[in-house]
Amino acid sequence: MMFAAIARETDRIGLVTTVSTTFNPPYIVARQLQSLHWLSNGRAGWNIVTSIEGAENFGDSPMPSPQERYARAREFTDVVRKLWASFPQEAILIDRESGKFSDPDQVSPINHSGEFFSVKGALTLPAHPSGEIPLFQAGASDTGRNFAASIANAIFAAMPDLESGVELCNDLRRRAEVHGRHPDAIKVLPGLYFFLAETREEAHALYKAAHSHLSVERRLASLQSVLGLDISGFALDHRVTADMLPDPNQPVRSRTHAELLRRYITANQPTVAEVLARPEVLASAHWVSVGTVEDVLNDIMERFEAGAIDGFIALPGGSEQSLELFFEKLMPQLVERGVFRSDYTGSTLKEHLGM
Ligand SMILES: Cc1cc2nc3c(=O)[nH]c(=O)nc-3n(C[C@H](O)[C@H](O)[C@H](O)COP(=O)(O)O)c2cc1C
Repeated sequence: MMFAAIARETDRIGLVTTVSTTFNPPYIVARQLQSLHWLSNGRAGWNIVTSIEGAENFGDSPMPSPQERYARAREFTDVVRKLWASFPQEAILIDRESGKFSDPDQVSPINHSGEFFSVKGALTLPAHPSGEIPLFQAGASDTGRNFAASIANAIFAAMPDLESGVELCNDLRRRAEVHGRHPDAIKVLPGLYFFLAETREEAHALYKAAHSHLSVERRLASLQSVLGLDISGFALDHRVTADMLPDPNQPVRSRTHAELLRRYITANQPTVAEVLARPEVLASAHWVSVGTVEDVLNDIMERFEAGAIDGFIALPGGSEQSLELFFEKLMPQLVERGVFRSDYTGSTLKEHLGM
């Protein structure tokens, strides 16, 4: 609904909405996304998620296991795409004289019967002429990556450091090829949580203020929930080492976040205080960049040149001024360096993504 409102007020920006495959029926999602695609003239995108939690909002059943959630996501996406294809653009006639608005010969109802869903019928609205809705995916465990490699046009990634980014990009390229796709078929777009100010000191003060409400106790509890690691008995300057890590097979909320932290601890043997300052513990494991426009620009260029990113999802932090600096100073510099377009070259999301 929010995107329907935004679609009306804008005419170029892509509208990528997150929809969970764990809690929704595929027929409704297929209709909603195709409706948004028409309302926005080809600008809809779908960020496919399997969700970490939330089952209690929908009934008494517990969260399905990650394996089951991904199996369901695969079938769900398949059903949605079959529904989109069931009423192709070519079936539209709109002939008022004969009273024929569509050609039934070109509409192919589906008859899906699978492990999780039974869905019959054609979709009741035709596909938009701009073609299929681009698919994004979020979740980077082994299963998540394979799923992304099989269908996604872009991945919304949690990428706290450059090394994890290079690893993810190379791995996705390899997996895309295994699925018979072009290695560059999947755009890697990490969240970039930025705090911009005129001076470094100001920017760091903004970052500190944004997390000052998180006590050591809350950070310890967050670490316990993300990684299953309890280090509450250690002093803040005590080093955390690989042998302290819990069994990698024990269930965690998100394997993506747990794996990022495991790798950081194994590679760096950080202190307790350093672990408690990590983005995976404080928030959502996103890449954090704090400083002046030049600092953040250099950070972006470093990752881009290292092949760790194709773009990023901007997550503004701090103050409104941070957002203004981003649009008025930082983006123009990315354009100047030739890594961002100076104007739109198309009007649909597909065109913006270069698909
Ligand atoms: C960057 C990122 C963003 C995500 N955003 C959402 C979201 O908005 N809603 C949601 O239900 N799940 C979201 N998820 C959760 C994933 O869909 C997935 O359920 C979770 O990461 C567990 O899968 P994994 O084991 O592959 O990491 C997100 C995950 C990541 C990594």
